[in-house]
Amino acid sequence: MPLPCFSGLDDALMSYLFGKKRATDIAHMIGDTVIDATCGNGFDTLAMLNLVSDDSHNGCVYALDIQKDALDNISLLLEESLNPNEKQLVKLFNICHSKMENAVPRNASVRLVAFNLGCLPGEELEVVECFAGRLCVENWICCKLHMFNRPCAPIPIFLYKR
Ligand SMILES: C[S@@+](CC[C@H](N)C(=O)[O-])C[C@H]1O[C@@H](n2cnc3c(N)ncnc32)[C@H](O)[C@@H]1O
Repeated sequence: MPLPCFSGLDDALMSYLFGKKRATDIAHMIGDTVIDATCGNGFDTLAMLNLVSDDSHNGCVYALDIQKDALDNISLLLEESLNPNEKQLVKLFNICHSKMENAVPRNASVRLVAFNLGCLPGEELEVVECFAGRLCVENWICCKLHMFNRPCAPIPIFLYKR
């Protein structure tokens, strides 16, 4: 299967390296049916919705969070920010992302699964790195962007399925 073509992604990655874009700006560029695996207060979900929503209303964002409070917060944000048609494109689930198979239909054509683990992912980062390092090179391109002289910058990790 060919690599999905994300128009403008090359330029965006360079802009990130040169400090002109934030890590989250890159994550917000990729569209279609998408999953926000850690939706929190919903800011990433809204950005992802902007990528997938068009007049056909075929796009969809599945937004998951393990915290009930987060679901309450995102519900408020969606209520304030979206019209009824747009709201229908966001499906909220109060579940752990390990259970996403229960939320997302098996035949959905998912283009992106985003995990925003926050500023201090700690052990989660190690687990993700370990997982990515074991994916088969024939099927996956895995990389991380670590800014050596910006120790507080987020560390975006990209796992592209070929
Ligand atoms: C940094 S916040 C995400 C920010 C959010 N995307 C936004 O735009 O506001 C991390 C979120 O991950 C959620 N989370 C942590 N572990 C999770 C898990 N196993 N499954 C789903 N959500 C999880 C937390 O509840 C928290 O809301």
